[in-house]
Parts: sequence; C-alpha cells; structure tokens
Amino acid sequence: MARSSSGRAEQREDASAFVPESRSLSDLTAAVQACTACPLYIDTTQAVFGKGSRSPRLILVGEQPGDVEDRRGLPFVGPAGRVLWECVEAAGIDRRSLYATNAVKHFKHENRGKRRLHKKPSTDEIEACHPWLDAELDAFPKANIVALGATAARSVLGKTVTISADRLAPTMLGSRTVFVTYHPSAVLRADDRAAEVRAALVADLTAAWAASSRPRSVSSPAAGGNGSGRSD
Ligand code: URA
Repeated sequence: MARSSSGRAEQREDASAFVPESRSLSDLTAAVQACTACPLYIDTTQAVFGKGSRSPRLILVGEQPGDVEDRRGLPFVGPAGRVLWECVEAAGIDRRSLYATNAVKHFKHENRGKRRLHKKPSTDEIEACHPWLDAELDAFPKANIVALGATAARSVLGKTVTISADRLAPTMLGSRTVFVTYHPSAVLRADDRAAEVRAALVADLTAAWAASSRPRSVSSPAAGGNGSGRSD
C-alpha cells in the first residue's frame, strides 16, 4: 500500500510483497535483488542495500545509488560518497558506528552515449521502495537518523521538506530523532558556495552525532514496530 500526497492510503504497487518476513538484514540484502516493484530495476546492475554497523549510533540515509555504487553494489562509494566520508571525518564521527543506506535501492539514470546520468527518483518510486528502507530502519529501532537531502527526508518523514528551511529543526519519529541536512552531492554542485554547504553538512553531522547516544545493545533484526515512524 502506498500513500498519496494527501496522506491517504492508495492501492498502488510497492515493494511490500518482496520484503521477507524474517526482516534479518542478510535476508533483506539478498531479497532486494529480486525486487521489481517499480521499473527502476531495469537497466541497472543490481540493487544496492545498506551497509555498516550492526548497532549503529546513527543511520545515514541518502537518495539512491549512483553509477559507481550500481556497479560495486555498495552505498556511497562514488564521488558523493567521497564528500560524505570527508564530512563524517571532519565532524569527528567514528565511521564504524554508522549504517549508510538509501531511500531508493536502484540507480535511476538516463543513458547519454556511454555515460549514465543520474535522474532524481519520483515520489511514486520513493514510495514504492519505502518498505525496504522501513525494514532496514526496523532493524535499528534506537538509532537516530540523518536524512541526506530531500529524497531521503521524503522517504523517512513521509512528507516533502525543503532542506534550506528544515535542516535546523530535528524531528521526533517515535523515540528517535531525524536530522535533515544537505545531500553530499549538493557540495559538488554548489560551485562558489561549496565551502559553505560543506561546512553546513559537517555542522549538522556533528550535531546529530552529539545528540545520539551510543547503542546500548545490538538490536534484534526481528525487533518489532515501524521503525520509520510512518504508518503505511
Ligand atoms: N548518492 C546517494 O544518495 N547514495 C549513494 O549511495 C551514492 C550517491
């Protein structure tokens, strides 16, 4: 079941039917490769699932895998990932305490000659993929979340946000806090504002890290509840 922009449930195809009952991260990682809930699986190498600590202090949610991620099957290993990990380090964050994933698991792009150019996922595609993110967040019910950019914020919060306006106001989702900030690719696109956007991203990551306690125990992947706080 997907949600319309009015928040009403609609009968539309989403990935729910592909998400295994067990909800263990290794089962999810394997099962996502069979997902055909939206057309984005066509013309990609593979679905890219999240990766990182099994008891994260913070979950970083990006938009979707890029060209390099699609080929390597790992999140944030391309140019935007380079910026992200530089900012993580500048924020004094222990990278081993993070779990990184994306709102959309397949690389949306258009082919231009030999190049594959990134295309922004539509709201329907974000909604269709949401059950995968929801299952991942359920695996870490205590971890705070950093939504990197508008697509991630749309998926995590279930509503449209404007990064420049909303990044300074953390949102409670159940017992955890969601911090909204720039996507690292915004640094790459910002030209003469690049240093400013990078500094804002570092400041937001620093604040999110400081506000997030160490995980008390390794959470059970089968732990119940809708970890994203959404009700769909
Ligand atoms: N951009 C994202 O949002 N996620 C990635 O994994 C890579 C680039």
